[in-house]
Amino acid sequence: MRTQVAIVGGGPSGMLLSMLLHKQGIDTIVLERRTRDYVLARVRAGVLETGFADLMREAGVGERMDREGIIHEGASFAHPGGQFRIDFEKLTGRHVMVYGQTEVNRDLFEAREATGATTLFECKGVKPRDIDGEQPFLTFLHGGKMNRLDCDFIVGCDGFHGPCRQAIPEEVRTEYEKTYPFGWLGILSETPPIAEELIYAASERGFALCSMRNENLSRYYIQCRLSDSPEDWDDDTFWEELIRRIPETAAETLVTGPSIEKSIAPLRSFVCEPMRWGKMFLCGDAAHIVPPTGAKGLNTAASDVHYLYHAMVQHFIESDSQGLEEYSARALARIWKTQRFSWWMTNLLHRFPEQTEFDLKVQQAELAFLAENEAAQRALAENYVGLPY
Ligand code: APR
Ligand code: PHB
Repeated sequence: MRTQVAIVGGGPSGMLLSMLLHKQGIDTIVLERRTRDYVLARVRAGVLETGFADLMREAGVGERMDREGIIHEGASFAHPGGQFRIDFEKLTGRHVMVYGQTEVNRDLFEAREATGATTLFECKGVKPRDIDGEQPFLTFLHGGKMNRLDCDFIVGCDGFHGPCRQAIPEEVRTEYEKTYPFGWLGILSETPPIAEELIYAASERGFALCSMRNENLSRYYIQCRLSDSPEDWDDDTFWEELIRRIPETAAETLVTGPSIEKSIAPLRSFVCEPMRWGKMFLCGDAAHIVPPTGAKGLNTAASDVHYLYHAMVQHFIESDSQGLEEYSARALARIWKTQRFSWWMTNLLHRFPEQTEFDLKVQQAELAFLAENEAAQRALAENYVGLPY
């Protein structure tokens, strides 16, 4: 088998990149470890920056998103001192779109299938080879036999646990990591959302977030201990705790119901440098992870895809490799700013076990400042709607 760009991983990074390249006549093959149904069943985030939505449109996959996605012009922030709204549209002239990652992936899969391009599911033991030589290739098990895929470039869109990052020699790879001493317990319920906009709540009992997918599908999170497991939290216990952490006026409008999904995610910040080695490029979770507080996981993947897509077009169509040479540095420059924002939001809104009384006072003062200061609100809004590419 041979292709121009071999993409490892059929998550949002891999599928979006493949569709964009396809539109430009650049040939790709996607290798995915799981089944199609498994990938489509994963519940993840759902807040899209304008830049992400624009890429979906450019890939020709924006139609259902534009019909069903909900535009959010602001969000609410609650803390023991009160509740305030940050008006993204007024402060930045921009907004975000709420549209679940599950739907993003479904649209990308269906669009790719319609092109007839090859996506191989249930590929085992995918291994990038000769990435620092002239003719890279991948080997993998599929359909009961070993296969070889030759290509001009390999793109590792294979998530945090995938093999591509590990293929960069240890002596040239630097990994920066921070773990947080708590997790998020999230549930999905077929109930109407509590409010029209998201509510980020920094309560004395810990963080809570009220989010949504559509008018009858809500997503809620509460900060929990790392040692907790979803079985420790039956639905009633979850709702009771959520109610304790959100403003009373909001709690009065909360509609509860059975959860249809419940899971715990630890919070982590992670960056791998460089994001290119030889003929291999990393995109999305394969190279970096953010804590979910700033809603940036999917959006950082999109900025990588943006830089790499344009660099590939420049290479294949204009025979100019400068964009590929600069990819790692350009992607990382934006990644680190988004890392900073996600880390800052996490520090602002959570209770930390080791927090001193002094730390708490400073955190309260920062929230009070944000509540009353337009410049501080604008800084948050600029980051939340997405920094320019
Ligand atoms: N071989 C082939 N595919 C693999 C392998 C492997 N060895 N290992 C992992 N994969 C696949 C996974 O099964 C998954 O479908 O790579 C894909 C990676 O997808 P994501 O983890 O979703 O990462 P990414 O596409 O970069 O998306 C980033 O979306 O999923 C969220 O939390 C993530 O919000 C972040 C954003
Ligand atoms: C979500 O809806 O899943 C969501 C929204 C905002 C976040 C994180 C997750 O900051």
